Amino acid sequence: MNIQKVLVIGAGQMGGGIAQVCAQAGFDVKLNDIKEESYTKGIGIITKNLLRSVEKERMTEAEMEATLSRITMSLDLNDASDVDIIIEAAVENMDIKKSIFAQLDSIAPDHAILATNTSSLPITEIAAATKRPENVIGMHFMNPVPVMKLVEIIRGLATSDEVYKSVEDMTYQLAKTPVEVNDYPGFVANRILMPMINEAIYTLYEGVATVDAIDEVMKLGMNHPMGPLQLADFIGLDTCLYIMETLHEGFADSKYRPCPLLRKYVNAGWLGKKSGRGFYEYS
Ligand code: CAA
Repeated sequence: MNIQKVLVIGAGQMGGGIAQVCAQAGFDVKLNDIKEESYTKGIGIITKNLLRSVEKERMTEAEMEATLSRITMSLDLNDASDVDIIIEAAVENMDIKKSIFAQLDSIAPDHAILATNTSSLPITEIAAATKRPENVIGMHFMNPVPVMKLVEIIRGLATSDEVYKSVEDMTYQLAKTPVEVNDYPGFVANRILMPMINEAIYTLYEGVATVDAIDEVMKLGMNHPMGPLQLADFIGLDTCLYIMETLHEGFADSKYRPCPLLRKYVNAGWLGKKSGRGFYEYS
């Protein structure tokens, strides 16, 4: 299938990044959010990222203008009526995702692919909210989207080979690398990353080492670009907790038990970089 028109749902950090890379690759993008302020904020961040690319001579000013002109604002899900693919990057909440997918199913053209950027929710269950589960797929981008090369592509139980192939082709067009995975809790990325982050939090909780020491060990010892506690702050501690709970519930295995310190920070509103405080403080 030839994908040209894209609707991205959610103009936050992930949705904005996805819209940016799609527009840079030449796709026509509608960026949807329920609030106009969120769209304005999202397009502001995209503009800032593109300006930096112009400054660094990775892009001309004309290319920047052309990229921005390919992104239009959408405040209504009915805008899905003429697109080839929808990439949903709304909040990580199963009821909200099911409701969005049920609505999209009744609005989007029959050929349209319904993709979700969920980081750990079951694709098969989201697909079951539609009458076209064969067209539903996971397209999990990594943060920050414009920088990270991976897109984890998750097949739901009913996802067709044709839909998988179209999404794989599109990912290459975005200059990213697709990796195929099956639909189990946390897929691959977060099944491995989150227990590492959770274990780093247990290491802090049990007084084995300080925040700085834990991050230094992993940065210098394992060559990770960020230590696990800094990365947790960057992802958002609420998101980390949510994913650990999804793994814990999905596998019913105590090895995925979220660290009580992680829960305590989230309950305190210490959500990491976005709230100004997590394992580190941000001004
Ligand atoms: N948006 C766009 N570009 C960004 C950016 C952002 N949010 N953050 C950094 N960049 C760009 C910078 O502009 C810079 O580009 P230039 O080449 O123009 O200089 C480049 O990335 C490198 O940035 P910095 O020099 O400022 O800092 P750095 O070298 O430390 O790199 C980083 C920053 C790329 C974020 C790096 O620290 C890193 O790779 N961190 C780990 C990221 C990671 O693990 N992501 C996965 C998170 S898990 C996830 O996303 C899945 C999930 O479901 C939770």
